[in-house]
Amino acid sequence: MTFRIAQISDTHLSETKPFFVDNFVRIGEALRASKPDLVMNTGDVTLDGAAHEGDLAAARLLHDALGLPLRFLPGNHDLGDAQDAPGHREAPIDGERRARYLRHFGPDWWCFDVPGWRVLGLNAQLLGSDLAEAAEQEAAIAQAMAGLGLRSLALFLHKPLFDRTAEESEITGRFVNPLPRRHLLSLLDTAPALVVSGHVHQYRETRRDGARHVWAPSTAYVLPDRRQPRYGLKEVGYVEHALRPDGTHDSHMVQVPGAPTLRIEDFPQAYGPV
Ligand SMILES: [Fe+2]
Ligand SMILES: [Fe+2]
Repeated sequence: MTFRIAQISDTHLSETKPFFVDNFVRIGEALRASKPDLVMNTGDVTLDGAAHEGDLAAARLLHDALGLPLRFLPGNHDLGDAQDAPGHREAPIDGERRARYLRHFGPDWWCFDVPGWRVLGLNAQLLGSDLAEAAEQEAAIAQAMAGLGLRSLALFLHKPLFDRTAEESEITGRFVNPLPRRHLLSLLDTAPALVVSGHVHQYRETRRDGARHVWAPSTAYVLPDRRQPRYGLKEVGYVEHALRPDGTHDSHMVQVPGAPTLRIEDFPQAYGPV
């Protein structure tokens, strides 16, 4: 039986600044009609849950209202950014912000199996961190690899591993940075067949070293070209992943009528002027 994951990402929901709630509700209606086996939010669930717990609570309620099976991964706006991310407005991840996220959304890394596949979700902001939980996450990765068997591996995390190659050396807030990337890849002794992320607010699908890398769009908004290059498609929507028992998969973007592609520069009250 094929397992269908509806991946939503970068929903940026808020209690006091609900600019992107209408898009979430509209896309949620499409998800309810499509009845996936799982709805997975790959982070930036909230507008600013790293600073305002009310955003975490409001976002959780909106997800629960979908009435569908849910899993979450944290993004930088939910519990702070990676400690090695330069120049971000939100504070870096710490134990308190992480604990607050966990109270509302459950574990920030996890692993589950469906026929033909092992699905491993990671907290991208913990990669390269000096928090004790970073080592616990690494132990969980090792455990997931040890029991992989003949299954295909799907890796889900908020930030893409890289733009074009695993060898690129730029330190950015946009991708997993070179040192933690190298370390993560060294822990994955079987290469993932599928690497899935959010964070960039663009849909892109590429193939590199036998793996398919799928970037989910935001359900909320896109960033202007002067702030962020065009890597792929700057449109809102979600991604459907069909994981087949034979270890193959199909992933494609779904655009939902009535959920317009909003532009962050039209919402200066969200994060300030762009
Ligand atoms: Fe985001
Ligand atoms: Fe993000």
